[in-house]
Amino acid sequence: MPRKKLGRMRVPPPDEQTARRYLLWMPGKRLYEQPHSFPEISSPTLFGNRRPLEIEVGCGTGEFLCHLASQNPDANFVGFDIHKKSLYKAVRTAASQDLPNILFVSADFRLVYPLLPDSSLRAIHLRFPDPGMKPRERKKRLFDRRLLDESFRSLQSSGCLLVVTDHREYFEEMLALARRDGRWLISNGVKKPSPDEERPVSRFERLWMSRGRPAFWLTLQKPPRESAHAR
Ligand SMILES: C[S@@+](CC[C@H](N)C(=O)[O-])C[C@H]1O[C@@H](n2cnc3c(N)ncnc32)[C@H](O)[C@@H]1O
Repeated sequence: MPRKKLGRMRVPPPDEQTARRYLLWMPGKRLYEQPHSFPEISSPTLFGNRRPLEIEVGCGTGEFLCHLASQNPDANFVGFDIHKKSLYKAVRTAASQDLPNILFVSADFRLVYPLLPDSSLRAIHLRFPDPGMKPRERKKRLFDRRLLDESFRSLQSSGCLLVVTDHREYFEEMLALARRDGRWLISNGVKKPSPDEERPVSRFERLWMSRGRPAFWLTLQKPPRESAHAR
């Protein structure tokens, strides 16, 4: 199924009050030229508390992150995407559950790196990123050396970059890149479709699973501080 088709949704923007609560706009030009004119991505700045923070890069319609937020009230969650209508839908889901610990950011994540404090994130989720196999699309891929560098810098000790994809070739390229990088504790596997499963699934995960496609997962853990010192 062409991925483009999935973007065609009719979703009205949230009302002003809901948008103020759940949606942060970071327009590309200003984010590129003056990143520090935007708030840093941290729990104290965005939520006024010191709870652990997890982010999702390319959160789409936000089901996965809203589920995480509802199941983990002691942590905060921030989702980033460039697709406005998907974010409207994500905001609507968060508002319908009155979630106090989630925020969505309209931004190209590759411009957000300067706003991620060092050693601050508990987890970074990257689920079903666009594989972009054509040469000109490859440049837009989210999983690249820069993502590895910035994730390593911004994750706290033992924090994880958790990646899931339905695309075998992209998965193998990501795994090879992570292995070459050499800084991570790596685990990976394949998850077969299981219609009865109850764990949180994102829109794309549901879609690929309903078509009988397996999902490949890759977890990159930043080594605990003690083991980093021991090396
Ligand atoms: C295939 S969808 C997956 C969405 C969601 N993670 C899921 O599993 O349903 C990929 C998402 O990444 C977003 N995306 C692509 N490039 C991005 C970027 N540079 N910054 C933020 N989001 C991006 C797209 O807009 C799209 O919503």
